[in-house]
Amino acid sequence: MRARDDAPMERRMIAAGRRFFDSSSSLLLLCLLLSLLSANNGIVSAATAPLKFGINYGQIANNLPHPAQVSGLLRSLNVNRVKLYDADPAVLTAFAGTGVEFTISNGDLLNMSDARNARAWVAQNVQPFLPDTRITCVILGNEVLSGTDASAMQSLLPAMQAVHQALVDLGLDDQVNVSTSQSVNVLASSYPPSAGTFREDLAQYMRPLLDFLAELGSPFLINAYPFFAYKASPGSVSLPYVLFEPNPGAHDPGTNLTYDNMLYAQIDAVYAAMEAMGHKDIAVRISETGWPSAGDADEVGATVQNAATYNGNLMKRVAAGQGTPLRPDVPVDVLVFALFNENMKQGQASERNYGLFYPNGTSVYDLGFGGASFGPSSPTASGFSSSSKPTISFPVGVVVLFAAFLL
Ligand SMILES: *[C@@H]1O[C@H](CO)[C@@H](O)[C@H](O)[C@H]1NC(C)=O
Ligand SMILES: *[C@@H]1O[C@H](CO)[C@@H](O)[C@H](O)[C@H]1NC(C)=O
Ligand SMILES: *[C@@H]1O[C@H](CO)[C@@H](O)[C@H](O)[C@H]1NC(C)=O
Ligand SMILES: *[C@@H]1O[C@H](CO)[C@@H](O)[C@H](O)[C@H]1NC(C)=O
Repeated sequence: MRARDDAPMERRMIAAGRRFFDSSSSLLLLCLLLSLLSANNGIVSAATAPLKFGINYGQIANNLPHPAQVSGLLRSLNVNRVKLYDADPAVLTAFAGTGVEFTISNGDLLNMSDARNARAWVAQNVQPFLPDTRITCVILGNEVLSGTDASAMQSLLPAMQAVHQALVDLGLDDQVNVSTSQSVNVLASSYPPSAGTFREDLAQYMRPLLDFLAELGSPFLINAYPFFAYKASPGSVSLPYVLFEPNPGAHDPGTNLTYDNMLYAQIDAVYAAMEAMGHKDIAVRISETGWPSAGDADEVGATVQNAATYNGNLMKRVAAGQGTPLRPDVPVDVLVFALFNENMKQGQASERNYGLFYPNGTSVYDLGFGGASFGPSSPTASGFSSSSKPTISFPVGVVVLFAAFLL
């Protein structure tokens, strides 16, 4: 997928990289060399094991770099799992041959609940990119069940079923999972974790949804932001507890397990809620979590230091393959939100400041990535080189109003 005459482009990118990252130029050069090698061979660099966490690549912004540059950046960081909020063909094309694993999304649930539309969508947005781009999961809807759109709630399961059937019909179901991501707000009770239950008014949707996920062997995906619990009650929620810093922990009298961080308690509350509906057979994964590096004056805790601590500590735990107290043998699986600060997101200032990177490729804070940068990029053969189109994503409601969590 590489044009042959791109050497001058690479030199320009290296020069640009030096400008961005002169403080760590030797590491940067190493990254660039590795990226060059891997790009030229069309394979992923095998120099180091891929990082275990993935990343959300949101695009609600008008100043993001071209996907080919993003591909270089992610390969230099050794990130090999990415989630999109749509099925942007420019991104899927730019990552062809990289080995990066993609979760793509479709929020048009009413439309997808029709078998013909689901089939047409899969034929147009999934099939043509396989196997060069590794699409492994399609997410239908984002936080629909904690929202207010009744039509979307009713269409959620039919849309998942129709998209799954389309994957079966096209012979792709062994490569591509179907799931949905929900906010932790679908829980009526989350503390102690062993007492986790789903909201009673959602049971009519939740029961058949869980039955379907179990039948497919697909995970249940949740978006969980301990930041929101802290922001809502900074006086009663312990900052070390939400940031994975040393703290006495919270004892769950239902299991006698001790929780030293809120994220794991939220995950185990979802396991308990699923078990209360008869399901011990579905894995919980985190489709979004993160911490903003800045916010409005009334958004307590939104600082660079807290964001670096939250994401850095989480990444260490994920790298160690740690499980939750209730599922110690199931490594916590996380997609961090988000890759870039997104300047066109609505809402409070924190919404535009979840990125690990500014749009120019400079990291917002040091996460121990070393000399991260935009790797060498090249126009792809298929002509997405110049357009830097703002991509329309379906609304991402990351607003999680978490019930006050008392230690
Ligand atoms: C990248 O953007 C950030 C935020 O706007 C800015 O502080 C930084 O100086 C920029 N870096 C470069 C190399 O332009
Ligand atoms: C429904 O989905 C199909 C397949 O992707 C698409 O062609 C069509 O435009 C969609 N309809 C609406 C109303 O969005
Ligand atoms: C689908 O999900 C199951 C259960 O989590 C997992 O074992 C499998 O690897 C997934 N398949 C793909 C293609 O991601
Ligand atoms: C928790 O520990 C206490 C004290 O050892 C014991 O009485 C209780 O039965 C235990 N509860 C569970 C659920 O194991």
